Parts: sequence; structure tokens; C-alpha cells
Amino acid sequence: MHRVIISGIGAEIPEPVITNEELVESFNSWVDTENARRAVTGETLLQKSDSDFIVHASGVQTRHVIEREGILDPTRMAPRIPARPDDALSLQAEFGIASAKKAIAHAGVEGWDIDLVICSASHHQRPYPAIAIEMQQALGTNGAGFDMGLGCSSAAAALHIAVNLVRAGAHKRILVSTPEIITGHLNFRDRQTHFIFGDASVAMIVEGLDQGEKRPGRFEVLDTRTWTQMSNNIRTNLGYHTRTAQDDPYQINLEGNLIKQVGNKVFKEVTVAGHKFIVEFLAEHGLTPQGIRRFWLHQANARMNAMILKLAFGHDVDHDRAPMVLERLGNTAGAGAIVALSENHADMKAGDFGLLCAFGAGYSIGGALLRML
Ligand code: COA
Repeated sequence: MHRVIISGIGAEIPEPVITNEELVESFNSWVDTENARRAVTGETLLQKSDSDFIVHASGVQTRHVIEREGILDPTRMAPRIPARPDDALSLQAEFGIASAKKAIAHAGVEGWDIDLVICSASHHQRPYPAIAIEMQQALGTNGAGFDMGLGCSSAAAALHIAVNLVRAGAHKRILVSTPEIITGHLNFRDRQTHFIFGDASVAMIVEGLDQGEKRPGRFEVLDTRTWTQMSNNIRTNLGYHTRTAQDDPYQINLEGNLIKQVGNKVFKEVTVAGHKFIVEFLAEHGLTPQGIRRFWLHQANARMNAMILKLAFGHDVDHDRAPMVLERLGNTAGAGAIVALSENHADMKAGDFGLLCAFGAGYSIGGALLRML
């Protein structure tokens, strides 16, 4: 059994930013137009969105997105991303490669030193060929690549697999990539969810630690854990069977098929499951939350993270202990906890413990117990 480290971490945040005010202005302008139509047809009128509500309920102030103009155009309300020819690099692979290159440079290796690429995200641009294989070709990595996903726990679940493959000796060095272009699948006309998400791409290099090898500033992965329990409270129905339920199977109707969630149920149920997961996982290693220098939690809701930590610790916990990137980036699905990790570990000392914990659709929770070398 090999000891395993995360030798490189990379994060890529797209430049374009959308503020709550901009998003709400476009949403409310669309509501005005839609309600004028509904007033004639007698359909139920829609309610407006509100930026104060967004900050209070979620903690999100801004989000970074791959493409801004189409989202803010009240006549469109979705990113405008032109199709690329089949032989051009696809957007998701390009986004994944941008963070992968940073992780590869951080690890001090070359593309060909990697023998497996796992592209794990909450949404993939297409089912096949795998985005990971496209990344394999563009980065010049060896071996194989495959795609997988587990909602907002996608990066943590892929880390779970990568760590155990390296530990077992099946692979030497694995690239875990989580390029989340979640705005592509978000319903910007849904008041409950239009403000939640943003785009971000993260990558980690997972490899073995040779006997006697010193890798100061890198994390040893002591253990990983994944938990799931069926819930429809965060769900998307868009897929290959969408058209088969329609009268005209060649005109895809997106109504009801994009991301939907019952936010307040998710909040309550995942808060309970999340804190239990953390306490039990740490206890398995003879640790308590107090013994962990830093928590990098999923970035879905600032109040939710505060509550999870309060239940785990028995008191309020500050952002030095559990940093937040949500305010700036919104919920970046599987990428969020890894962005928090990438931006908040340079001050940690040898021997410090850290806990990565992501949670979301499924329900799913994924964790990794790390120790700074
Ligand atoms: N603008 C203004 N008001 C809004 C609104 C908006 N955009 N969206 C909802 N509201 C209103 C609702 O209509 C409701 O009004 P009512 O009390 O008059 O009925 C009120 O705000 C409360 O709605 P609720 O859905 O209970 O809000 P909330 O406080 O639970 O916050 C979320 C909503 C989504 C921010 C929050 O539930 C959340 O973040 N949950 C966790 C999600 C999560 O972790 N997902 C995980 C993985 S991705």
C-alpha cells in the first residue's frame, strides 16, 4: 500500500463577473415581459427576484461565468456559446486543461508523467468521447481517461477513486479534473435557482510518496470517504430520454428539465448529514473537529456551512478555520471546495490536518482527510 499525496492543485476562474444587481435586473425585466403576456392569458403571474434576498439567503454577491452577455439578455437568459467543429477542442476540455496545466506545473511534472485522467463534474458537455480523453490528447498524458460525476461531490468522489487507485498501485499519477460550466445548464428564468451558481474549473494531481521522500508544502491524503442517499430535492431530468416523452421528439422542450431544487429541504437535510459525516469520519481517525486546522467545505450557502460547523464544533467557527469563496464565485458545484483549498493552504504548517468536504445532489457527500507534509 502506497502513501498518497496531492502533489499539485490548480484553479481557473473565468474573468467575466455578474453581480446580483445585474442578474436581478435582467430577471425582473424578463418577468415584466412575461407577466404582460400572462395577464392576457390569465396564467399565474411571476414574482420578482431581489438582490437583498440573495445575499441574505445564500451569501452570494457575485459569480464568475464563462459567458455573460447571453445570461443578462432578458430575451435570452442563457449563455451564448457557439458550437465548435468536432475536430476543435471542446469548451469543457479547454476549461479543464486550463486548471490542469496549473496543477501539473504546481506538481512539477509533465503531461506524459500522468497515466490516468478522470474528468469528474456535475455536468458533462457530451457523453462521448469522454472529455477526459480529449484532455488526455491535448495534455499528452499516458494511459487512459474517463468521465464520471456525482453532483457537487464530483471532485471529492474522483479524489476518492484516484487516491485508492494510486494506493493500490494500479496507477502512478492521476489528474483529477473538475471543469464546472454549470451556467450552461442553469434555468436563469427560475427565481429559486437563478442566482445560485457560477463557473469554475479545478484540478488535482494525485501520486504516491516514495519511501523517505520529502514533499514539504504538499498534502498527504490520509483517507477518503464517500456517502450517498437517494433524494429528488436537487434534480435535473435532461437526458437521452427527454425527447422520447415528447410528441415532437426532434424539438427538445427544456421546461422542467433543467436544474431544480427544493433549497430549504436540501439546506436542512444536508446540514444534518454533513455535520454527522464530518464528526464520524474524523472520529474514525481518532480526531475531533477541534484538531483540524482548516476545513474546505462545499460552497453552496454561507449559512449552511456556518450551521454544519456549529453542530460539529458546538460553537461558531470563523472563516480562518473554514474559508469561503462563495461570496465572490457563487456555488461552483464540484469545484467550490477545491477552489477554497487552492486559495487557503499556503499558511499551513507541517503536521496540520485539513478536511475537504463536499456535498450536494444525490444526496452525496465526499470527504478527504489531509495532513500537510
Ligand atoms: N428573490 C426574492 N425572494 C425569493 C427568491 C428570490 N430570488 N427566491 C425565493 N424567494 C422567497 C420565496 O418565495 C419564499 O417566500 P415566502 O416565505 O413568502 O414563501 C422565501 O423567499 C423563502 O424561500 P426559501 O426557498 O425557503 O428560501 P431559503 O431561505 O431556503 O433560501 C436557498 C433559498 C436556495 C438560498 C437555500 O435554501 C439554499 O442555499 N439551500 C441549500 C442548497 C444547496 O446546498 N444545494 C446544494 C448543492 S448544489
